[in-house]
Amino acid sequence: MIIVGGSSSRDLAKEMSNILGCTYVQAATTRFPDGECYTRIDNGSLNDDVVIVQNTYPDSNLIEMFLLQDAVRKLGARHTTIVIPYFGYARQDRAFRPGEPESAKVMTKHLGMMCDRVLTVDIHKESILDYFECPHTDLKAAPAIAGHFTGKNIDLVLSPDVGAKDRAKAIGEMMEVPYDHLEKVRLSGSEVRISPAGMDCKGKNILIVDDMISTGGTIVAAKHALKEAGASSVSVACTHGLFVNNALERLTGNALEAVLCCNTLENEVSHISVAEIISDALNDKR
Ligand code: R5P
Repeated sequence: MIIVGGSSSRDLAKEMSNILGCTYVQAATTRFPDGECYTRIDNGSLNDDVVIVQNTYPDSNLIEMFLLQDAVRKLGARHTTIVIPYFGYARQDRAFRPGEPESAKVMTKHLGMMCDRVLTVDIHKESILDYFECPHTDLKAAPAIAGHFTGKNIDLVLSPDVGAKDRAKAIGEMMEVPYDHLEKVRLSGSEVRISPAGMDCKGKNILIVDDMISTGGTIVAAKHALKEAGASSVSVACTHGLFVNNALERLTGNALEAVLCCNTLENEVSHISVAEIISDALNDKR
């Protein structure tokens, strides 16, 4: 097996190759002066099972993924797996208004044209993967998050909304601490209202878990609601730390005990690694 690291996921791809004991090849990706993507894989041949690790967010990374898929084929890849740690456009899984595209379906259709298998991590809507005609699996980051926080004095694990309650359940059970969910109402793209809906938060060290943090609005609102309800401390962990519009600064300046995310998106707080979870899934295939 040969692991090719795209520019979005070099550290993760390297870590996976160390775990799997296989060759790591870094794609030499740069930009042309006009901003278009240039990439090259400096290997004479890739006559093996090839795994490309690359996000499809932002759009520039999606283009790089397409180009890498073509490059590995031309170098003789026998079987191509694409690992998409963070799958962009997963929240646009249907046309919400007439005239809108089904963005997620467009992405899967095109990505699926040049690969034999797809692995994602905590994709926002798992049903999107069914648009792929090749085998596909969405891996769960819950064991990595639970492993990180076990023994760190957490009394309660909460999801910010009912839609994510299964994640809180999985992590709570692995950590052997109680879990529940908050009530969330979205007011706008960046504003939400959150309430603990009568749960007992007094004096508790609470861990909020979510699939992603984008603007940080959800977490800020959750933290205020929990503090008002008497929580002693509030930590937060998500799989994908997008942190748009200085959200990370906003969160770290908000008296949260800890803000952490997985290395599906590499940034200064992506200290929870999903390399082992992805490597185990790749090993299953061998
Ligand atoms: C919503 O369904 C997601 O799970 C996240 O809670 C949401 O995308 C977070 O967005 P933001 O950080 O902008 O509140």
